[in-house]
Amino acid sequence: MGIKFQGLLLASVLVAYYIYSPIPENVEDGWRLMFMNALFRSLGHVAAIAEKLGFAHYMDVMMMITTMDYTPPVSDEKVIVTDTTFNDVPVRLYIPKGKSDSLKRAVIYLHGGGWCVGGKGMKSYDFLSRWTSEKLNAVVVSVDYRLAPKYHFPTQFEDVYAVAKYFLQSSVLDQYKVDSSRVCIAGDSAGGNLAAAVAQQLLHDPEVKVKLKIQALIYPALQTIDLDLPSYRDNENMPILPKSLMVRFWSEYFTTDASLREAMETNQHVPAESSDIFKFVNWSIWLPEKFKKGYVYTSSSHGSSKVGQKYPGLLDPRAAPLLVDETKLRGLPLTYIITCQYDVLRDDGLMYVSRLREAEVPVVHEHVEGAVHGSLTFLMGPFNLPVGQKLANNYIEWLNENL
Ligand SMILES: *[C@@H]1O[C@H](CO)[C@@H](O)[C@H](O)[C@H]1NC(C)=O
Repeated sequence: MGIKFQGLLLASVLVAYYIYSPIPENVEDGWRLMFMNALFRSLGHVAAIAEKLGFAHYMDVMMMITTMDYTPPVSDEKVIVTDTTFNDVPVRLYIPKGKSDSLKRAVIYLHGGGWCVGGKGMKSYDFLSRWTSEKLNAVVVSVDYRLAPKYHFPTQFEDVYAVAKYFLQSSVLDQYKVDSSRVCIAGDSAGGNLAAAVAQQLLHDPEVKVKLKIQALIYPALQTIDLDLPSYRDNENMPILPKSLMVRFWSEYFTTDASLREAMETNQHVPAESSDIFKFVNWSIWLPEKFKKGYVYTSSSHGSSKVGQKYPGLLDPRAAPLLVDETKLRGLPLTYIITCQYDVLRDDGLMYVSRLREAEVPVVHEHVEGAVHGSLTFLMGPFNLPVGQKLANNYIEWLNENL
């Protein structure tokens, strides 16, 4: 064997080793997911190196995914698409050209990306909003809330809330010919977190007269305090959203101070004096049996770091909608929740389903086997996954029937 051949062989083995990640057997098109995951991982490595050398913040590098994937607002034969602002917050509006003069439905959509990345202009979100608008003959408002690390909690929440409040005024709904009894709030991942938080706050806001008809939460993040749930343990190294990245997103939502992240990694970030709040996310009570799978609940596995005291946002329901008692859940609108099998956030969604049902809120829950976190955004080009199409179809079909 020549030295060149040996070199080539070694290089191939290294590349294969780098690209390879174990993909569960029931994931369709697993090889495609593996390549995508390798791309994300590589970007993560570049981000980590850039940060170590002091060139850039980790999330500024991760933001490249959003920037590279940008598409401008372009109208087509069915939908008029424009970028504008509501209450000074940038939004992308999708207005169907439908002939009929009857009032339309509306969806306020909040993109995912861990409060740090993502945007209304990403091709996958643009595609999803356009599709929603066309299929439902609905006005879609896709919101570009400000992001971490430049802006921390509660800026993201407040931006979205400002948009919701602006849009839900009768005069504004009239202007867009929207039926005020048929408005939905929806979002995926961090967007699902914001959607759930906004829906809760609107319920008790005396200034808002128009009520949401439904909320749709797609693999939402819903709690900050227990980052060692069975789903975090089962999916610690799953493609797209490993636990380390979720912890980074959560901590970055509140602060760039690394000590919060370090405390979160060992689940020690909640101050001991706040330990009674764990009852809201006690998975031994709120998870269905099949998802507990032999894990044993121990209260001693969390709490006690002082660092959490510096960030009261951690315990704020506007950041963690699971951290409210039943009275705050009562009266929420019909709720659609998607959870995925291979997702650290699976149990956040499952527990919200249980807690909402306990509070007599009608819930439609769809648990998707063989799906990883973020599947809904893999709809286009080389990055499309069959399960992404399925999720998007089911979501839009459900909206169509219930909004
Ligand atoms: C969680 O629930 C179990 C019962 O299933 C109970 O023994 C435990 O004290 C609870 N812990 C907290 C912090 O609520």
